[in-house]
Amino acid sequence: MDGNGRWAQKRDLPRTEGHAAGEEALFDTVEGALELGIRWLTVYAFSTENWKRPPDEVRYLMHFNQNILRRRVEELDAKGVRVRFSGRRDWRVPRRLLRLQDETVERTRRNRTLTLTVAFNYGGRAEIVDAVRRLAKDGVVPARIDERAIASRLYHPDAPDPDLVIRTSGEFRVSNFLLWELAYSELVFTDVLWPDFRREHLAEAVREFQRRDRRFGGVDG
Ligand code: FPP
Repeated sequence: MDGNGRWAQKRDLPRTEGHAAGEEALFDTVEGALELGIRWLTVYAFSTENWKRPPDEVRYLMHFNQNILRRRVEELDAKGVRVRFSGRRDWRVPRRLLRLQDETVERTRRNRTLTLTVAFNYGGRAEIVDAVRRLAKDGVVPARIDERAIASRLYHPDAPDPDLVIRTSGEFRVSNFLLWELAYSELVFTDVLWPDFRREHLAEAVREFQRRDRRFGGVDG
């Protein structure tokens, strides 16, 4: 959900106002995903690198996330959205936020219309490191280490690899998002800053995806 800071700066507002405006973009996108029949949606809410931001902004984001979960879980639940979180639960994440995340997961865990995964304190490399740590802990011998052994130790092994990854705000980078999972994903880049992103942009990205020719390393046939 990139471009919040720039959206705010363009309006002479503090960066945090850009994050606040990102909430509507997120919920409109969720609505669009429901309309399109998308079953899995993952949003990047806070990366393992975002701790480098000014402390005030980090504090704001922690509170903002708690605030959203408190205010909007009922609505998500009513829409049949299963909410999950992906990332490290380390000491830097406020306890209260972790507790709210757990409550949100518990409350929505029977829903199946859409699984909304919130990548929070998430890094693609950290996820692979954590999977490898689990391999070692499980005592898997080198000969038994294959893609399946790693994939089954990622944060959410039941989630399908993403078909489509959308990067907003005119950046052409993957920025440590789902590194393992996006090996064959189609990437769509848009100049739209996250607070301006709406369901129409999601639909447009899906249309772009439908025009792509996916070969997964093979040939057409
Ligand atoms: C990146 O924009 C955006 C973020 C770090 C936070 C986005 C979070 C939300 C919209 C809320 C998510 C909450 C839940 C519970 C799902 P940026 O600051 O990097 O923008 P810039 O590149 O223009 O500086």
